[in-house]
Amino acid sequence: MSKAPADKPVDALTEEEAVTELERLADEIARHDRAYHEQDKPLISDADYDALRQRNEAIEARFPQHVREDSPTMKVGAAPAEGFAKVRHAVPMLSLGNAFSDEDVAEFVQRAHRYFERDKDLEIVFTAEPKIDGLSASLRYEKGKFVQGATRGDGQEGEDITANLKTIDDIPKSLKGDNIPDVVEVRGEVFMTHEEFQALKARSAAEGGQDYVNPRNTAAGSLRQKDASVTASRNLKFFAYAWGEMSAMPEDTQYGMVQKLGEWGFVINPLMKRVITVEEMLEQYREIETQRATLGYDIDGVVYKVDSLELQRRWGFVARAPRWAIAHKFPAEQATTVLEAIDIQVGRTGALTPVARLKPVTVGGVVVENATLHNEDEIRRKDVRVGDTVTVQRAGDVIPQIVNHIDDGHHAEREEYVFPEVCPACGSPAVREHNEKTGKLDAVRRCTGELVCPAQAVEQLKHFVSRDALDIEGLGNKQIAAFFEDGRIMRPADVFTLAARDARSEKPLAEQEGWGPVSAQKLFDAIEARRKPELDRLIFALGIRHVGETTAALFARTYGTFEAFEAAARNAAQGDDEARAGLLDIDGIGETVVESLLSFFANDRNIQAISDLMAEIEPEPYVVASADESPVAGKTVVFTGSLERMSRSEAKAMAERLGAKVSGSVSAKTDLLVAGPGAGSKLKKARELGVETMDEDGWFDLVGE
Ligand code: IVH
Repeated sequence: MSKAPADKPVDALTEEEAVTELERLADEIARHDRAYHEQDKPLISDADYDALRQRNEAIEARFPQHVREDSPTMKVGAAPAEGFAKVRHAVPMLSLGNAFSDEDVAEFVQRAHRYFERDKDLEIVFTAEPKIDGLSASLRYEKGKFVQGATRGDGQEGEDITANLKTIDDIPKSLKGDNIPDVVEVRGEVFMTHEEFQALKARSAAEGGQDYVNPRNTAAGSLRQKDASVTASRNLKFFAYAWGEMSAMPEDTQYGMVQKLGEWGFVINPLMKRVITVEEMLEQYREIETQRATLGYDIDGVVYKVDSLELQRRWGFVARAPRWAIAHKFPAEQATTVLEAIDIQVGRTGALTPVARLKPVTVGGVVVENATLHNEDEIRRKDVRVGDTVTVQRAGDVIPQIVNHIDDGHHAEREEYVFPEVCPACGSPAVREHNEKTGKLDAVRRCTGELVCPAQAVEQLKHFVSRDALDIEGLGNKQIAAFFEDGRIMRPADVFTLAARDARSEKPLAEQEGWGPVSAQKLFDAIEARRKPELDRLIFALGIRHVGETTAALFARTYGTFEAFEAAARNAAQGDDEARAGLLDIDGIGETVVESLLSFFANDRNIQAISDLMAEIEPEPYVVASADESPVAGKTVVFTGSLERMSRSEAKAMAERLGAKVSGSVSAKTDLLVAGPGAGSKLKKARELGVETMDEDGWFDLVGE
């Protein structure tokens, strides 16, 4: 039997078959474009999509006379989904830290008790409630009327989806009751019930329409419809569980506030409960877990929150999550499949990560084709070999993992995996460093090629433009990889000179495969919009090893401007001991970070890359939100002696919230020393240096809290 044209190599196609194939490919590619850009729901992997486009091009090259008018190669880029207007959240929408075990929950509770240890006999009450697996939305009411609704977006800025949210019955158009504050922002989760999801799937199957993967993705797609009547037909639901800006607070506890949201007309989750001890928290967790299968909607854990809003305020935030709340995730879901290959990926810091390529398998409702194997010791420990049947597990957004191999009787016949000792991307030796602290070999093998290694360079660039770094819309991993390949973007500064170079280029982006004038201009505009990045994002974007978001924010807060940060790091890298001590003096910064920072700034190529970048951008100096009114904004404060009204960490958090830098030692740069009873050498030194000193009461008078 002859092969269908779709399966034939391009060289073997007859002219007639080529015509049929080009028609099929045009349809198929257009369908994937729609799924990707308009429905946010790719139907195939990027690699498979690229293969379709390549096949289309190859056939066209062989039969140019049959290039179709609607050919994918003729299109000026895929039509982007019509954008929604951006909405800046008055109060950022936060994410949550995770707990994966009972011990993690106990630790969270201990942290709370440690933080408030000065408050004698304080009973800390928590709330426990299901973590809904949907999408969060923020709903703004002015004078009781629903005026605007937005997605979470990056937490700072979301998309205006008011029209779509208005179609959801659970979202009141006006609030019920008296004494409603002028401004009320209600936050919660939009989701789809299992029943609705199954009904939609059945309808779609009957009409020969698309397949839907899971209720969460479907709810996401339904919310981002341009036509609100489509959203309306999906019968989405909404649970209210939090709030943003409020012109007045009607209650002073988490629980009380959520009940209030219920009184105003929102649907609130009936499984929310107040709990005090770890045992009670875990009991509620197990209760919710037991009910999980019959709830009729997806949940992926239990969220615990400190109940008192006063304590929430005092405990505060880290990076983009509150300290006073945590999500206790349900255990991972597992499945078995065949390990088809082990590939090595080179990360931005040169780490070689083994990736398992799997026979596709559905785990917890999602198709998994790749999973991480962590490092060579893990492969040895689990003794997984290509061809083995393995257990794969997936939990939430975490990368799927290989748990173990299953004995199928042939394991011993398969070859043991040998981890490469040279970098697959650049051929440089890949080594395991000796960790001085532990006296052991590092688990991770790293490529020593650094700047000559193309894989590291590409990964650095991907990190540079990524969401938590410079966040350049439309410049994702795929685009960076392509631009690196064709030489458009080789270093960070190239991102910002892209448009100018493109204007003079003989091969402008708009004429490249997959692009058009509209999409190219959109990208240039998105880049332009990031020419004044926030300082903490910029420092994080540099991709210095061990400098994550939190550390970057510490540097930003301490130095205020990029120039000051760079000067400190460069001076220290050149052997200036005082500069080095200054870095180590920052609370929360240790030796590991400083060593890595100095090695970064000791490298001339990094200095050059930064200087080229700085010629293109103008980072915003770091300003603390409440700095205007705060009497200690920008000051360096040291706390010493035993404090009685607050714990040391609370003092630090409070000072930082008010825009001060907290240091562990007194120097000429110290502006203020707060000394409790028993203060010794630091107080003496401060007096000698003429630094202003005060006791704890003086501090509270000064900051007025
Ligand atoms: S509270 C200030 N409560 O989980 C804390 N979040 O991982 C803000 N979520 O973006 C969130 N159920 O979309 C909270 N009962 C619940 C939740 C919940 C689901 C989602 C929410 C958030 C994400 C954080």
